[in-house]
Amino acid sequence: MQSVVQQTVQSGEWRSRLTGVGGALPKNVITNEELAERLETSDEWIRTRTGIAQRHIAGEGESAVSLATEAARQALEHANVSSADVDAIIVATSTPDQVFPSVAVRVQAALGIEQGFGFDVSAACSGFIYALSTADAMIRSRQVSRVLVIGVEVFSRLLDWEDRSTCVLFGDGAGAVLLEGGETQHEGILSTHLHADGRLGDLLYVDGAVGCASGKVALKMHGREVFRHAVVRLAAAVDEALEANGLKGSDVQWLVPHQANLRIIDGMAKRLALPPERVVVTVDRHANTSAASIPLALCEAVHDQRIKKGDLVLMEALGGGLTWGSALIRL
Ligand code: UT7
Repeated sequence: MQSVVQQTVQSGEWRSRLTGVGGALPKNVITNEELAERLETSDEWIRTRTGIAQRHIAGEGESAVSLATEAARQALEHANVSSADVDAIIVATSTPDQVFPSVAVRVQAALGIEQGFGFDVSAACSGFIYALSTADAMIRSRQVSRVLVIGVEVFSRLLDWEDRSTCVLFGDGAGAVLLEGGETQHEGILSTHLHADGRLGDLLYVDGAVGCASGKVALKMHGREVFRHAVVRLAAAVDEALEANGLKGSDVQWLVPHQANLRIIDGMAKRLALPPERVVVTVDRHANTSAASIPLALCEAVHDQRIKKGDLVLMEALGGGLTWGSALIRL
């Protein structure tokens, strides 16, 4: 299938530069051992199949809006940009607190922003790449100059906590980046690549919505099938990003992948011939935070100074839809 959005740029053009990152996790941590006390599962099964050891779960007073607002606040502070200079907020989420208003406009209000606009993007675990691509297109077309792009999920409120095949896999959290338009030689988003195949929608879905007759809402996944698609589709999306920019796997300095399963992440690193120390992994501590996983991982690696200005960063994600995509950014 052809890429729907594919944007490449030459040097010295108007690009979206990533100038700030932020992240927020709920206070409450649940370990595999704690889950094994109430479910027929084990720390050993969860660790060996997924790489997950624990996850953060939103408690009272924590919500998609509160986590997203905290992540956004940090991203603005990191970029040293005032909220008064933000033109737009784009939030990737499958777990908004309300059907509407969007998480984006709730964050806008929480940050005291009175100008611009905001909206949410729904593309499950690929949501951050979709939101990033949308923001990038708006910046390049000079519709806006500064955009907060946020990924946030409270999947814990969407899970069937009796279903061991899904509830052990996910966690809650938020990550945010600030994108700023500017004339640059090398930095910025080099390209983004989005894909979807709705025929595969029943491999990973939520069986209901506010309007559904049954009223029950829970995440369902055919894990083995999704795994198989992830390996193939992510490899193709990564090749596409490299080819679009005339780069090789060895040019990539950092892989910041969606954090669904350590085995998928390791497979991708091996394919790119990247040593483990060049791959940002948070799945062990955060589990799968869906649209939040990439910006949370990026935030961690920028703040602990592993990822530095000028580094070439490759991102990739696949999720319900199926949706998938990749992005190449020079920080
Ligand atoms: O972020 C969106 C994209 N999502 C992904 O990329 C996830 C992709 N899929 C995966 O990561 C993996 O398929 C899983 C981690 C979900 C599952 O791992 P798997 O190696 O594919 O296991 P499986 O689904 O084939 O299940 C193997 C066995 C089954 O038992 P039988 O039928 O072989 O007797 C399951 O019932 O493991 C059993 N099982 C569990 N056992 C202990 C499933 N969940 C659990 C559990 N604890 N929590």
